[in-house]
This record gives sequence, structure tokens and C-alpha cells, in this order.
Amino acid sequence: MDNLREKLKNCTKCPLHCTRTNVVISDGSVSADIMLIGEAPGADEDKTGIPFVGRAGKLLNEFLIKAGLDRKKDLYIANTVKCRPPENRKPTKEEKIACEDNLKKQIDMVKPKVIILCGATAMESFIKDKKLTISKARGQVFDLNGIKLVPIFHPSYLLRQHSMQKGSPRDLMLEDLKMVKALVNSCKETT
Ligand code: URA
Repeated sequence: MDNLREKLKNCTKCPLHCTRTNVVISDGSVSADIMLIGEAPGADEDKTGIPFVGRAGKLLNEFLIKAGLDRKKDLYIANTVKCRPPENRKPTKEEKIACEDNLKKQIDMVKPKVIILCGATAMESFIKDKKLTISKARGQVFDLNGIKLVPIFHPSYLLRQHSMQKGSPRDLMLEDLKMVKALVNSCKETT
């Protein structure tokens, strides 16, 4: 992990290194059973060097607590791309390719039982189905060489959706995170 951190601190593989303040690598525990992968750092993450600490991150934390998950102990949190794209635009294909090996190394190191794919950018890196949207994919479990992949809504989408009624995006987010917790528990029972 320290090796990766040292290497990434000086990474110049894509143009995002010109505008970043900090490379944003991870938060949580390397021995967690659950890995959560987001899109890319925003302004707050770029400033602090920690993923999901801005408004979307705070909302994510609320949902994790409601689902009975401990961000620091139960999860290892990372992003598809480790440096902030200017104006919070989506990372380009080239930027994602440049950062692909870093994410692979993180997965190999953590060896999670479940990977939460947070939003479309993270989902598209793992599930190669151009027609699949997050709305269709959420609630389903996909496979990556034995690791369970669970797509969920990105919390920044939920910042604009306030209802908690049954079937609303926020309600489904909670349902999905509870499913993740149950999946991890069932993996533990069978090992
Ligand atoms: N959105 C992301 O996808 N990742 C972060 O770290 C923050 C916001």
C-alpha cells in the first residue's frame, strides 16, 4: 500500500496531474470485506486527499450508518480515477485507462468479497454492457472472478432526490446497502 501511495504521489500518466492538489487514493481499511469504488475526486477530496468527504460523501456516510456499515472498518473506499477532473467533469476514456492498473492493484491488495460500484462510471469499468443503466443494474449482483459486484446509485444523484418513500432512489440505496451487508455475512458463513 505504501508503495502504491509513493508511486501515485508522483504519477504523471495523464493530464489530470497538472491540475490536481492531491492524489486521492483510499479511505477505510485494507482488510475490509467490502470495497466501494466511486468515479473521481471532487473539490473537497482534491483538497484533503481523502475520497468521499464532500456533500456526496457525507450523504453516503449517513446511508452506510443506516445500513449498519462502519465506513472505517467495514469498507475500503477508492475511485476509478485518482485525480480530480477539472470542473468535476466525467473522467475521459484515456484518463480511466491511465488509472486502470492502480485500481486493479487496490483490488488485488484488498481482496474484497463484495465490490460496490458507485454510479455509472464505476459500473462501466466492470460491466461491459452499453445498454445497462444504474437504474436497471441496481438490485442485481454481478460476478468478477468470484467477487460479487453490486452497482448502486451515486450519492451525488441522491442529493437531488429527497423522498424516502418505498421505491424512491434513497429507499433503494438503503435496500442495496443492506443487501451488501447480508451478502458479506453469507460469504463469511460459507468460508
Ligand atoms: N464522488 C466520487 O465519485 N468520488 C469521490 O471521492 C467524491 C465524490
